[in-house]
Amino acid sequence: MKIRKIRTLALGVLSAAAFGALVAPGAQAEGFTAEQAASGKAVFEQSCQRCHAGDLTGNGGFPPLTGDRFMSRWGDRTSADLFDFISSRMPRGRPGQLAQKDYVEIVAFWLSFHGHAPGGEALTGSDRIVLQP
Ligand code: HEC
Repeated sequence: MKIRKIRTLALGVLSAAAFGALVAPGAQAEGFTAEQAASGKAVFEQSCQRCHAGDLTGNGGFPPLTGDRFMSRWGDRTSADLFDFISSRMPRGRPGQLAQKDYVEIVAFWLSFHGHAPGGEALTGSDRIVLQP
C-alpha cells in the first residue's frame, strides 16, 4: 500500500492553481516536479556518478542504486528514508557536503529514473513516497 502525502487544503489549492496545468492528463502526481528531477540528475552526475554510475548500476565495487538487490532493501521504504540516508551519509567521504535542496533533487531524480511520474507539487525531504514504483 502506498503512503500518500498528506497535504494541507491551502497547499493543495495553491498548487492546483499554480501547477495544475503542468500535470499531463492521466499522469499521477506523486509529489516531485520534472524540474527537480532534471536538477537532481545534474547534481547526481557531478557528485555521485563516479561511484554509483550514470545508469545507477554501480561502478567497480560500489553498490548499485537500482535493481533487485537495491529494491529488496529499499523498495518498501520511502523518499524520506532515502533523503535521510543520502543527506547524512553521501557522498562517501564528504557526507552532508551538498545543500539540502540538492539531496531532495537527487531523490526526485531517483524517483523519475524508476518510473514515478512527476507532478505539480515539489518534493521535500520529509515527503513519504514509497520508493517501489
Ligand atoms: C566515493 C564513492 C561514493 C560517492 C561519490 C557516493 N557514494 Fe553512495 N555509496 C558509496 C559506498 C561505498 C556505499 C556503501 C557503503 C556505505 O553505506 O557507506 C554507498 C551507499 C549508498 C547508498 C545506499 C545503497 C544501499 O544499497 O543501501 C545510497 C542510496 C547512496 N550511496 C547514494 C549516493 C548519492 C545520492 C551520492 C551523491 C550525493 C553518493 N551516493 C555518492 C560510495 C559513494
